[in-house]
Amino acid sequence: MVTQPLLTAFDADHLHLRNRVVLAPMTRSRADNPGTVPNELMATYYAQRASAGLLISEGVYVSPEAAGYLNVPGLYSPEQVAGWQPVTSAVHARGGQIFAQLWHVGRMSHPDLLGGALPLAPSALDPEAQVFTPSGFQSTVTPQAMSLAQIEKVIADFAQAAKNALAAGFDGVEIHAANGYLFHQFFNGTSNTRTDAYGGSNEHRARLLFDVLDALRAAGVDLGRVGVRLNPSFYGLFGTTLDADTIPTFELIVRRLSADYSLAYLHLCEPFTDVSQVPFAEPNIAKRFRPLYRGTLIINGGFGQEEGNKVLADLVSFGTHYIANPDLVERFAQHQPLAPADKDTYYVPGAHGYTDYPTFSEG
Ligand SMILES: Cc1cc2nc3c(=O)[nH]c(=O)nc-3n(C[C@H](O)[C@H](O)[C@H](O)COP(=O)(O)O)c2cc1C
Repeated sequence: MVTQPLLTAFDADHLHLRNRVVLAPMTRSRADNPGTVPNELMATYYAQRASAGLLISEGVYVSPEAAGYLNVPGLYSPEQVAGWQPVTSAVHARGGQIFAQLWHVGRMSHPDLLGGALPLAPSALDPEAQVFTPSGFQSTVTPQAMSLAQIEKVIADFAQAAKNALAAGFDGVEIHAANGYLFHQFFNGTSNTRTDAYGGSNEHRARLLFDVLDALRAAGVDLGRVGVRLNPSFYGLFGTTLDADTIPTFELIVRRLSADYSLAYLHLCEPFTDVSQVPFAEPNIAKRFRPLYRGTLIINGGFGQEEGNKVLADLVSFGTHYIANPDLVERFAQHQPLAPADKDTYYVPGAHGYTDYPTFSEG
């Protein structure tokens, strides 16, 4: 039988992976307690998926102000740090490696999720989207344009959360700079109309990401344990639109990450929607960006076994397939069929639709 590239080992710096299959970061909203502390159920969920070469956690808030969804765990309180320890231990006990995805939603929030405060954003521009609050879906509001002091606080929060993640036993962290959230809001001129050092030019709009990476390094975090996730052609979701500067800004970011930062990896998403007719979008992300990046590349978005085995990247991350197939690696190895995921249980509390999907041999 021909060896599948996805099932071969991968070694680079701090990554020692049994295979090239990565669990993509997925919010599952199971931290349904007042302190949003990770729990035993979550440890079971990640342990079930630990045969992936690398696991990336769900998005994890770096501070209470970073929040935009219910029951999402954080990495800012001592209780949360303690709550993650059984999760990372369970993954390590099964031979996996796990990174924490560090998240700030920016304007994709609501005062009802922020103790009455306005969400933070580069500029006071309403994404005109819907967010899920304790009283159900509500329209977003016009956020507050962040002051320089507020930007500095966010940078410090990321550095502290990265240190907390390592203290909790994570092998590294991924900066969530994708999908229309805070970093992405800074990158795009359609959501960032600032005229200071964080807006106005491609370099200025990219700056927050590099400030955060520099702050992590200054805090003693080895950048070989840090990944960055980008979704350059993300369009039409969460109020995200593109302009002529969008893809050039991502090119600038990727070139600079490649030249000046020895990261664990760059994690790129192919477009989530059909962008073939969208002005300024790049439909082939791996093809466009692979030549610009010299380090480890993870690619994501719509991959299955066959496409994953052919792709132009070192590692491939799988999202939806992993929800209903905890043994995805074994299914790939044995060429077994994949089970479908139930969308109704993506974000609801409890074990159903979370830890009760059987492996192929159990099913
Ligand atoms: C239920 C669910 C939750 C998600 N949560 C996150 C998240 O917290 N952070 C993130 O970067 N992407 C998140 N995503 C996006 C996935 O990581 C992935 O990019 C997307 O599902 C496309 O990959 P796929 O075709 O393999 O599913 C989520 C996707 C799903 C289905």
